[in-house]
Amino acid sequence: MKKVVSLVIFTILSFPFFSNDLPIVEYGSINHPVIDDGGMVVSQRMIASEVGAQILAQGGNAVDAAVATGLALAVVLPRAGNLGGGGFMVIYLKEEDKTIAIDYREKAPSAATRDLFLDENGDYDRKKAQFSLLSAGVPGSVAGFHHALTRYGTLTWEEVLQPAIKLAEDGFVIPHDLANTLASKRYRERLSADPAAAKVFFKKNNEIYSAGEILVQKDLAWTLKQLSQNGPEAFYSGDIAKLIVKEMERNGGLITLQDLKNYNVAERQPLEGSYKGYKVVSMPPSSSGGTHLIQMLNMLEDFPIKEMGFGSADTIHILAEVMKRAYADRSKYLGDSDFYKVPSSLVSKKYAKALNKEISLDQVTPSNEVSPGNPYPYESPDTTHFSVMDSYGNAVSNTYTLNFSYGSGKMIPGTGMLINNEMDDFSSKPGTPNGYGLLGSEANAIEGNKRPLSSMTPTIIFKDQKPYMVFGSPGGSRIITTVLQVALNVMEHEMNIAQAVHSPRMHHQWLPEVLMLEKGFGSDTEKLLENKGYKLYQSSTMGSVQAIVKEGNYFYGSADPRRPSAGVATP
Ligand code: DON
Repeated sequence: MKKVVSLVIFTILSFPFFSNDLPIVEYGSINHPVIDDGGMVVSQRMIASEVGAQILAQGGNAVDAAVATGLALAVVLPRAGNLGGGGFMVIYLKEEDKTIAIDYREKAPSAATRDLFLDENGDYDRKKAQFSLLSAGVPGSVAGFHHALTRYGTLTWEEVLQPAIKLAEDGFVIPHDLANTLASKRYRERLSADPAAAKVFFKKNNEIYSAGEILVQKDLAWTLKQLSQNGPEAFYSGDIAKLIVKEMERNGGLITLQDLKNYNVAERQPLEGSYKGYKVVSMPPSSSGGTHLIQMLNMLEDFPIKEMGFGSADTIHILAEVMKRAYADRSKYLGDSDFYKVPSSLVSKKYAKALNKEISLDQVTPSNEVSPGNPYPYESPDTTHFSVMDSYGNAVSNTYTLNFSYGSGKMIPGTGMLINNEMDDFSSKPGTPNGYGLLGSEANAIEGNKRPLSSMTPTIIFKDQKPYMVFGSPGGSRIITTVLQVALNVMEHEMNIAQAVHSPRMHHQWLPEVLMLEKGFGSDTEKLLENKGYKLYQSSTMGSVQAIVKEGNYFYGSADPRRPSAGVATP
């Protein structure tokens, strides 16, 4: 309670007092602490950050702490933390001076075909694509965490699973945020309709839990113990696998035992770009995040962003023009690179220059006329990011998800585990937007064993060859633009990390043709943009950035105040 209150108070008090003199708040604030040794963990749940910090205190490295945090989030942040989903991890290893990108994104079941989500009239069937077992990709989180830990961690799988097992078995105090989403019409209806999920998230007769009560998840504890005793095989061929397949067969899902056995993590070369002397390392496909982050930074390098200033109509206009072009490219060129050749020139400086020729400081370029469908994509608060840096100089940036909040809303009976609805990230029908209003084409068409295109953008920025900033965000289609703006806030506007994370955000994704603004830009800026011809849409908060900056020996953390109960923990 004390921590939540201090987060709220800090958030309110800190706005007028931002300065670049570090540190800006006293040691111990959970939202923006600074520490000169030991490392730091920032996640969307303070209790999970503390699990990671405890691992660092035991002498574990950033990968150990990241995996333990990710597993703990699977218990304490059930709408996004997961075993039944997938994600991406970017790691920096100090000793080898090397970055690694781990793609543990879900894969389409082998029986999935291009028209999977089309109805008899050839139209996109939203219910099938988002809320049926057909929407589930083969989950990658367990394999991804195990892969990262066994190759780059120092502790055992059993050790990093232990805190998650304890949280599932003994329970944890339900924060306001969890109680609230479970009580909301949308999720109460969705989750109570699924008997296994209803048993976990509601009391008898689907009565809701209140904040402050304890949530015990016995089935999930069983699943985690299976993982601890039998390794990831429990999930991909053993007892957990059998329960997944049984439920798929019973309720019309496509995932077979063979699909689970065939699941593989892809270790990839991270994408590397540069921005005015900083090195930017981020996720290659099957996420579009790194590609478009670097593409947009390349384009922006040619504009006087700093002089135009944060939040000015000119800066917002240039950002919107750049974003439109990146999202237009995304719809055509981006897909799983194991299936489709993504043009490498998208991240070249030369290509950025060519695109910039079409951008004018005065004129708004109208978006093409493509049927926009859902004009204001709803951002389900589900994906989650966490960042870790340790005292050895290593860093981990991880974003993972079930796709929507609580995924498909379907739980695999006996496992306590929600299953993702990531198959909706494929382009089901050219010209028809998905749950985030995103369009796609051939590159991202459904195909067996292919990974649906993601926007997740776990990123590490280097300054003077050292990891400087570790961050990422949820937010569906708005992840990439959120990450872009936080990066610019630091690199161009010279904000400290708390200021960079707190500042208002905007978003344009080419189609629909609207400029989304969070509150806080000011009505004069909004007027100028409207006069330029923009159609403005006042958005609810965008993203939830969990970030660390390391300056000299100091770690500075910032947990995004946009979603409650996030926190920075130190060993
Ligand atoms: O991979 C993606 O891009 C989406 N499945 C992410 C969904 C998401 O971020 C929702 N959260 N706010």
